[in-house]
Amino acid sequence: MDDTHKPTKLTNEVGAPVPDNENAITAGPRGPVVMQDVWLMEKMAHFNREVIPERRMHAKGWGAYGTFTVTHDISRYTKAAVLQPGAVTPTFTRFSTVAGERGAADCERDIRGVATKFYTTEGNWDLVGNNTPTFFIRDVHNFSDLNRAVKRDPRTGRRSAQNNWDFWTLLPETTHQVTITMSDRGIPASFRNMDIFGEHTFSFYNEANERVWCKFHLKTQQGIKNLSDAEAEAINATNREYHGQDLFEAIERGDFPKWTMYVQIMTEEQARAHYENPFDITKVWLHKEFPLIEVGVLELNRNPENYFAEVEQAAFTPAHVVPGIGFSPDRFLQGRLFAYGDAQRYRLGVNYNEIPVNRARCEVNEYHRDGFMRVDGNYGAAPAYTPNSYDYWTAQPEVAEPPLELEGAMWRYDPKDDPTDDCFRDAGLLWKVMTEDKRAILVDNTARNIAPCTPNIKYRHATHCYLADPEYGERLASAMGIDLAKVRELAELDHAGLVEATLSERM
Ligand code: HEM
Repeated sequence: MDDTHKPTKLTNEVGAPVPDNENAITAGPRGPVVMQDVWLMEKMAHFNREVIPERRMHAKGWGAYGTFTVTHDISRYTKAAVLQPGAVTPTFTRFSTVAGERGAADCERDIRGVATKFYTTEGNWDLVGNNTPTFFIRDVHNFSDLNRAVKRDPRTGRRSAQNNWDFWTLLPETTHQVTITMSDRGIPASFRNMDIFGEHTFSFYNEANERVWCKFHLKTQQGIKNLSDAEAEAINATNREYHGQDLFEAIERGDFPKWTMYVQIMTEEQARAHYENPFDITKVWLHKEFPLIEVGVLELNRNPENYFAEVEQAAFTPAHVVPGIGFSPDRFLQGRLFAYGDAQRYRLGVNYNEIPVNRARCEVNEYHRDGFMRVDGNYGAAPAYTPNSYDYWTAQPEVAEPPLELEGAMWRYDPKDDPTDDCFRDAGLLWKVMTEDKRAILVDNTARNIAPCTPNIKYRHATHCYLADPEYGERLASAMGIDLAKVRELAELDHAGLVEATLSERM
């Protein structure tokens, strides 16, 4: 805290001196407290309102400021100022677990959220990603259910492996992400030792308004390091804030973590000819087909001064893009574009973008008016409407992104009905590139994690893994102690047949 503003003298919330902050005013030395102790009333009333709703998911998190420096030229793809050669942009990044509540331990088996706000000269750009290249599910309808399945059971109030695995295994597109979550990467040794991915397909457009599709990857310069279940268990028993402490202390001692940003680029023509849906978040784009193109370096170099003000009140949304960066037809991304702002208007209030950590560092003229906690002058006497005759609030058509051709009738399409869809290919490819020790860890972690579940769920998961790679399914079946011949039989069925055959009353 700045010493010139050191609050040495205690006042109430409107600046009047507080004479005593230890002894309540009582009627007589042993009598009851009186309402007239208005400072006491103020203090208690404020305390009662100090807790705000936690994020529905990603509730436990840690943050740090930094800079993003562009080291390579990708201007042929995007006109975004933040991605032009040499640009240096201030940032704020928040790391989180997904399933645990605000008080949960850091070292749980889970994916990690990583949200970075780039305070660019053209407005804030938020890259709200995870430490995995893909996601469990691909239709926005499934998102709230995913969270209900991994969070607490409505009856017991406890987390439930049965709910979690029941949901995962009824959606075969989860197989790849479940494989990653159960692998050695399921518990990173620190936030500094993991990669970061935007996961979705986004778009870039350049000065000539030509569009390409892109994916973001940030590779750790600290190297990948992970914890085993046993190591994590021992840490959680004594230190629930292990990852937050590691990040804070590294930055305090000047050991600034860095990630190299890369993009993968797919042209619109390549997307049309791609062998599967390039906008399906459960699928990767293979590096050998769409190589990584280096962009720049994200460095985290300053800790927040106040956890609540800067980390808890930070609000990110994939809807925040800047000219040169856009969305894609990814149906999962489209759902996210609504969800975050809606959650933040509830969690922080309608004027949440005025909170300093969220405030853009360029001129902001959004012309929204009023609302709870409007503290910036509310645009004074400027007209509150457009169009107006006074040259206020004119739109800027020069930044409009190129139009996007779409095809097909409006309908509820199930991606599994697309003949190019393969829910198991990516998990199979991952199994093939894993070394023997990683395969053994994956099988061991999965068997331990799924152990409390009923047999039908174990059969379903082993079948999916078998379809990804027969060896993966066979080793898992053996580790889970289920009948391999039965798994092979189930693997012959289509999705509906497998679901039917593994309903709980059937097994
Ligand atoms: C349709 C799918 C999704 C929906 C509806 C959704 C919704 C949300 C909501 C409502 C929050 C809390 C926001 C807040 O209170 O500030 C949140 C947090 C978050 N989500 Fe998602 N999410 C989805 C998928 C994803 C995916 C695919 C990723 C990663 C690529 C992701 C990464 C994150 C991260 C990192 C946070 C924490 C942000 C922070 O640190 O404040 N989410 N999500």
